[in-house]
Amino acid sequence: MTISVASQKGGVGKTTTSIALAAGLGRQGKHVLLIDIDSQANSSKVLLENYPKISKDDTIYTTVLERNPLPVHPTRIPGVDLVPSHILLSNTDIELTTAKDHREARLKTQLDQMAGNYDHVIIDCPPTLSWLTINAFTASDKVLVVVSPGYFELDSINQINKTLHEVKEYFNPSLELLGYLFTMSDSTINSRTSLQILRQSYTSQVLNTIIPRNTDIRDAHFNKTDIFDYNPNALSAKAYQTLLEEISL
Ligand SMILES: Nc1ncnc2c1ncn2[C@@H]1O[C@H](COP(=O)(O)OP(=O)(O)OP(=O)(O)O)[C@@H](O)[C@H]1O
Ligand SMILES: [Mg+2]
Repeated sequence: MTISVASQKGGVGKTTTSIALAAGLGRQGKHVLLIDIDSQANSSKVLLENYPKISKDDTIYTTVLERNPLPVHPTRIPGVDLVPSHILLSNTDIELTTAKDHREARLKTQLDQMAGNYDHVIIDCPPTLSWLTINAFTASDKVLVVVSPGYFELDSINQINKTLHEVKEYFNPSLELLGYLFTMSDSTINSRTSLQILRQSYTSQVLNTIIPRNTDIRDAHFNKTDIFDYNPNALSAKAYQTLLEEISL
């Protein structure tokens, strides 16, 4: 199963969720491929020690721009391989917009060649609705939409839903919403109200698991590792474990 972790809003916890899902599954003995398709390359920088030395030909750039096989790198997390991203991907949209061949399926075409080697594929999407996101959705079975508290954060759901439906209609009829994951939850009125509105608006699609705001997550990233390795007893680690059970991957 291939899952895109997405949101049009920046900084809501997409990368954190992608790393936590991949690491949690890897630690359960599953073989996982994490694909970083965001030019900020945040997952790549956390999980690959030698990231600064990796050339663009060894990243997803070569797949999306030059139609080459996905370059897979082992990570320190057991069972987890990574296809890193590259800053030059930020210019990709101009090139893909003018491309005439299957510009939406460049990732899917290459992933189909190797998806059978893995139990799960997780795609960490950029905070934009670009051809990169369309490539991720075209290659996916499901989309996990990450939502954090706030008016703009809730508002961004409309856009991501529109993209999901458009990709389903034009490129990938079997694409489905896995659910909305509420992250960075805390005891503020803003957070509680946001969750209430989310549940009222999208009742059955909101996942039961809530990820709390928890500084251990930031510390784990500073230490270039995942939350299960950094502090398996952290509230956020327990919440991500519950999420894995809820979505039964
Ligand atoms: N539950 C949490 N509690 C506290 N901090 C968190 C939590 N989840 C993520 N963070 C921190 O918030 C910041 C943004 O998270 P993250 O990078 O995962 O978001 P993103 O949606 O991938 O952002 P972008 O849109 O820029 O790719 C990071 O510094 C991360 O360490
Ligand atoms: Mg990110």
